[in-house]
Amino acid sequence: MSMQGKICMITGANSGIGKATARVLAKMNATVVMICRDKERGEKAQKEIIEQTGNKNIDLLLCELSSHNDIRKLVSEFNNKYQNLHVLINNAGIMLKKRKISIDGYEMNFAVHHLAPFLLTNLLLDVLKKSAPSRIINVSSAAHKRARIDFYDLQSENKKYSLFRVYGISKLALMLFTYELSRRLEGTGVTVNALHPGVVNTNLGRDQSKFSQGFAKVFFKSPEKGAETSIYLASSPEVEGITGKYFVKKEPRESSEESYNEAYAKKLWEISAEMTKLIV
Ligand SMILES: NC(=O)c1ccc[n+]([C@@H]2O[C@H](COP(=O)([O-])OP(=O)(O)OC[C@H]3O[C@@H](n4cnc5c(N)ncnc54)[C@H](OP(=O)(O)O)[C@@H]3O)[C@@H](O)[C@H]2O)c1
Repeated sequence: MSMQGKICMITGANSGIGKATARVLAKMNATVVMICRDKERGEKAQKEIIEQTGNKNIDLLLCELSSHNDIRKLVSEFNNKYQNLHVLINNAGIMLKKRKISIDGYEMNFAVHHLAPFLLTNLLLDVLKKSAPSRIINVSSAAHKRARIDFYDLQSENKKYSLFRVYGISKLALMLFTYELSRRLEGTGVTVNALHPGVVNTNLGRDQSKFSQGFAKVFFKSPEKGAETSIYLASSPEVEGITGKYFVKKEPRESSEESYNEAYAKKLWEISAEMTKLIV
């Protein structure tokens, strides 16, 4: 399949699923805009992808996605360089053993997995609409299924920090955002879907014990396998026009009951707009 002429932005593209996604889209001849937070790691991955694919249209833009200021700078840099954006993959992710706060004062899982995609996507909507048909892909997680949103404690301050609980809440927020955005984008030619990549051996577990990391190496999927649904949603004609769905193994699946709660999705949208000072 050719993605010649398509401009694809991927966040967290220097590692794991994001890098594997970038490499395959590069092989398909897309122009790939890699969003990374670390210059050295970003340049290393960019060089590797150019060498492996022969595609020179691999750009690198730097952004610390937990900073709203950095996201705004990124969007203005992108808009100065590019006229179009056909695919946006919100992929960057973290798993933190200890509670951490972003520079803007938000719990880090919530900041990176929800507020960053929320702000980045909203700021790129004009160019995505102009480039339609275009696609937004949110890399979520099956971990959202056990989570419950607590609007009185969105920053997870009241209960003892639990990595999987807080990670799950942030991915549930991303699901609510995906569905709300799909309703708001009806008729624009811009689609938005979410996915679970499977359990994948990446750097996500770098904060975990040596034992867990060793276990992941043996039993988890490769990043190449883990990237398959992202690549499918970014490039396949089979999903042209499909929006507001959750995919696992390249197939639409039911997400959690709470993720379909429209009242929650609207409320979370309003709160997120306030938190990110988004003016639309
Ligand atoms: N691996 C799994 O089993 C699994 C399962 C379900 C869902 N997911 C999701 O898949 C996505 C990709 O994760 P992965 O498994 O490929 O992990 P990974 O190898 O650790 O890659 C994560 C990427 O996100 C970047 N990133 C993290 N925080 C960032 C920030 N604040 N600003 C900018 N970039 C940031 C990382 O940059 P650095 O290299 O600089 O840290 C890295 O490039 C995540 O959203 C994750 O939640 C993964």
